[in-house]
Amino acid sequence: MSPLILTRRRFLQSASVAAGAALPGWFEAEAKDTPKPRIPLSANDRPAVALIGCGGMGRYDAKLASVFGDIVAICDLDEARLDETQKQFPAAKRYRDYRDCLGHPGLHAIINATPDHWHTFINLAAVRMGKDVYSEKPLTLTIDEGKRLVKAVRAAGTVFQTGSQQRSDKRFRLAVELVRNGRLGKLKHITTSLPSGPHGGPFSPSTPPATLDWNMWQGQTPDIPYVKERCHGTFRYWWDYSAGTLTDWGAHHNDIALWGLGLPLSEAGPVSIEGHALRDPVPGGYSFPSTFYVHYRYANGVTHTCRTVQTEGGSGNVLDPKTPPAQMSNGVLFEGSEGWIFVTRGKIEASTPAILEEPLSQRTWSAYVSDNHMGNFFDCIRSRKAPICDAEVGHRSVSLCHLGAIAIRLGRPLVWSPSREQFLVDREASKLTGRKQRKGFDGNDVWG
Ligand SMILES: NC(=O)c1ccc[n+]([C@@H]2O[C@H](COP(=O)([O-])OP(=O)(O)OC[C@H]3O[C@@H](n4cnc5c(N)ncnc54)[C@H](O)[C@@H]3O)[C@@H](O)[C@H]2O)c1
Repeated sequence: MSPLILTRRRFLQSASVAAGAALPGWFEAEAKDTPKPRIPLSANDRPAVALIGCGGMGRYDAKLASVFGDIVAICDLDEARLDETQKQFPAAKRYRDYRDCLGHPGLHAIINATPDHWHTFINLAAVRMGKDVYSEKPLTLTIDEGKRLVKAVRAAGTVFQTGSQQRSDKRFRLAVELVRNGRLGKLKHITTSLPSGPHGGPFSPSTPPATLDWNMWQGQTPDIPYVKERCHGTFRYWWDYSAGTLTDWGAHHNDIALWGLGLPLSEAGPVSIEGHALRDPVPGGYSFPSTFYVHYRYANGVTHTCRTVQTEGGSGNVLDPKTPPAQMSNGVLFEGSEGWIFVTRGKIEASTPAILEEPLSQRTWSAYVSDNHMGNFFDCIRSRKAPICDAEVGHRSVSLCHLGAIAIRLGRPLVWSPSREQFLVDREASKLTGRKQRKGFDGNDVWG
């Protein structure tokens, strides 16, 4: 696989790179007409919402949701987290078990901001009870979980939004609309650059805090003694619960890559994958590699590299010193036969100003427009339409990350059928589309 890498000379030759936080005037003018999410006018118009998983992200999501609905219940298996959240929502009823919380009288929707290994169990239970769901990304722990979830959401007809909120950010939408309308000529290569993870350890077990139900926190994952670094916040750097920054940031940037690629959702995935860690984890430390790269190839001939870049104080990376600055940053780079676009939070750049500044007068494709991810969820609760990042979108995007993680674990090229969602030939890889679940969390009635 030979990714199209821009040389520094070519980068500098693009005399005036259109860059910065400002959006082109024509796009701003169009975006002015985007309908704003509807703010409820009366108390009856505000859905009753439960927050399940009261960490930093859950509390932030609940704050956004409280513009459109009422947070009537909060749920966490750590009393300390509940205490903190109760200050934000004093009237909300407290629950320690999500099953009790789902039974809260009159509950309409949930926000699921638990760690990744808990997302699917809770989402399935909620969907089967007819609740609408805003679930944090990465949507699932495994590809098999995603397949089950997509089926369940379809069967129940619930409204489901995945928290990959870059889809509701104007800069990412502009980049994708330009790419899909041929502004770069033929799309050739995508680079998604993610921050490196921490390279820490070994860590020692200790007594869990008295406020925390460690057994329940582990859920379907292997039962092991409590280690602080495995739990709140840093769970994402352990294979047992997640797949490092590949699923954490990858659920954002690879989601944009798939959006820009423009494959039909039922075929949205690579046909081949190869990935490697750049540094092995420390034994007894964070178990997902801090630095890595993955190469994907799609059926339409486009190639894609997803890799870590050095972050301040990070653990380093192997990068071609000639790569242009745009490629060094956390974000998404689309390269086509006629130029490139780099987009990240707060910034969009292109190889020539005209790529961004010339209006897209004739579109062959228009993006789903949402400028407010949480608002879009509540609008869809009313309209019963699919949100911008529904379960299938979230599943396909995180599958790309899971496929990369499996390739890194196995260290050999893999062949994948995106329409069948199966590996071809490789039995060991096929086993990794699911995971062995701990007794007590495997025959759960929500698993189906
Ligand atoms: N969309 C974004 O930009 C964004 C940003 C940060 C985090 N996230 C996602 O949000 C999720 C939470 O991240 P965080 O940083 O807040 O994590 P965190 O570990 O700080 O918080 C998770 C909370 O969930 C609780 N919990 C665990 N299992 C539970 C269960 N079964 N029932 C109820 N509560 C349970 C934990 O006790 C903890 O309080 C992650 O999936 C993460 O990827 C998304």
